[in-house]
Amino acid sequence: MLRSAVVGALVIAAACGEATGPEREISGQQLYEQYCARCHGADGRPTPEQPQARNLADRRIVDALSDEAIFMIVQRGREPGMPAFGDQFTEASLSVLVAYVRSLSGSRGSHARADER
Ligand code: HEC
Repeated sequence: MLRSAVVGALVIAAACGEATGPEREISGQQLYEQYCARCHGADGRPTPEQPQARNLADRRIVDALSDEAIFMIVQRGREPGMPAFGDQFTEASLSVLVAYVRSLSGSRGSHARADER
């Protein structure tokens, strides 16, 4: 009984998306699929509904952006069409998210593949 209550609490924490804590590892892939894939596509290629979204599977595009630049774009948005996410991501979440974005194109950014540890 107590055990199922604890499991239930963990499921709720995971469903909240940005709950952080020792009980939950942040997944760059999960963040990307939840917040970015609807425009940029699950594999980084823009969806047919959002053809103007940047192709994040194109290494030349992603290599040209520093981690800090991607942080800023995600926080402030990019006119036209890219929403500002403000401070809804922690810095740790942004780091794994950027690492995942880089992994889509094999970009050699400083955090590349950090999510594969
Ligand atoms: C509602 C659709 C939408 C969502 C959701 C979205 N984007 Fe974008 N994104 C765009 C569009 C459109 C552009 C191109 C803006 C422009 O014309 O400069 C863009 C541009 C970018 C760029 C800039 C590339 C460059 O060449 O400068 C990056 C990086 C990026 N998005 C990452 C992300 C990440 C990471 C997420 C998830 C947190 C995300 N986007 C969510 C639509 C979206």
